[in-house]
Amino acid sequence: MTDWSRIDVAMGARSYPVLIAPAFMSRLGSTLDGLGCGPRRFVVSNPTVWRFWGQQATESLPGATSILVPDGERFKTLATVSRIYDELIRAEADRASVVIALGGGVVGDMAGHAAATFLRGVAFVQVPTTLLAQVDAAVGGKVGVNYGDGKNMVGAFHQPLAVLIDPSVLATLPRREFRSGLYEIIKYGMACDGDLFARIRTDLGSLFRRETGALTPIIADSCRIKAAIVASDEREAGPRRVLNFGHTIGHALESLTRYHRFLHGEAVGFGMLVAADLAVRRGFLPSDDAKALASLIGELGPLPPIGDLSAHETVEHVRRDKKILDGRLHLVLPTGIGHARVVSDVSEAELVESLLDAGLVA
Ligand SMILES: NC(=O)c1ccc[n+]([C@@H]2O[C@H](COP(=O)([O-])OP(=O)(O)OC[C@H]3O[C@@H](n4cnc5c(N)ncnc54)[C@H](O)[C@@H]3O)[C@@H](O)[C@H]2O)c1
Ligand SMILES: [Zn+2]
Repeated sequence: MTDWSRIDVAMGARSYPVLIAPAFMSRLGSTLDGLGCGPRRFVVSNPTVWRFWGQQATESLPGATSILVPDGERFKTLATVSRIYDELIRAEADRASVVIALGGGVVGDMAGHAAATFLRGVAFVQVPTTLLAQVDAAVGGKVGVNYGDGKNMVGAFHQPLAVLIDPSVLATLPRREFRSGLYEIIKYGMACDGDLFARIRTDLGSLFRRETGALTPIIADSCRIKAAIVASDEREAGPRRVLNFGHTIGHALESLTRYHRFLHGEAVGFGMLVAADLAVRRGFLPSDDAKALASLIGELGPLPPIGDLSAHETVEHVRRDKKILDGRLHLVLPTGIGHARVVSDVSEAELVESLLDAGLVA
């Protein structure tokens, strides 16, 4: 079929394909058969996703056992993972069983954690249903759960057998969740691929209408970027860090507001604006490029308010972030549209200035 895209995540013996095709939901089973995936299949999902897509999943995966977990980041815990273990044991899952995650990043991270640890690891397939999971969370093998106050504190690297992406499932995604994924695509464009950045702008109307003809290539490009970086740097020692563009500040804003105010992508949207401002101040980034980024982010719609948030408290949260190495603040700064680099000498005063520019209070 011509509307298929295939991207290979090259990781030696653990290499796997990311397959993207509209109406893929009706062909999950036959695709897995073709990939040599065993017949004992367990679909982990949540009631929200299942209400829209459960019937298609059941029809396309005959004989699979479904395991539903509660919807929401607050349920991304070891307690929920242990419910998945219980269901796997009840259904007599064995080493040859395959865990299939059907849902957003929360379901993917949790089902992946269960797959990584059950019987010391069983095969795992990602069927991401949010834009964010399709372009980011489902590719790269990071799985895990929150623990105590720590986000993604407990987890593993467990690469999937395949990632099966159907852009048509995005039709039922709430608009705000859809936009949240678009910020991550802007991240790829700004940090790694100027053509992608330009295309998001040109195709924004079709993307917002969720036209699969516009979505498929943009998801494919994002996955291609993530796949290449993951293949060269699975554990984020070097190049993978560029994908943290917007994230150090984004994470700080999320944790400062206790994960209530921002969706992840929205916080990343702010984080990119602040990093771009800092890059302009340093003379790394032409101000026209920063303006192009701000205008594209603006076109997606309003971001949550930040006027009551303190720049100094945000820096406090940046300091606690596990991405600070040797006490120094590492930040990804854009150097042009499609280019970014990691700098390791950003001072807190500099960061405060840029947070104030973005509209935070002292
Ligand atoms: N593993 C990684 O590399 C990685 C990367 C980025 C983010 N993450 C994790 O991903 C999580 C966020 O993922 P998310 O943004 O997908 O959020 P999510 O999984 O919470 O999904 C958002 C909401 O959309 C609903 N939903 C999902 N698909 C739908 C569909 N097709 N139609 C209607 N509703 C649908 C969900 O039930 C949920 O209510 C966070 O926990 C984050 O830590 C992981
Ligand atoms: Zn992200």
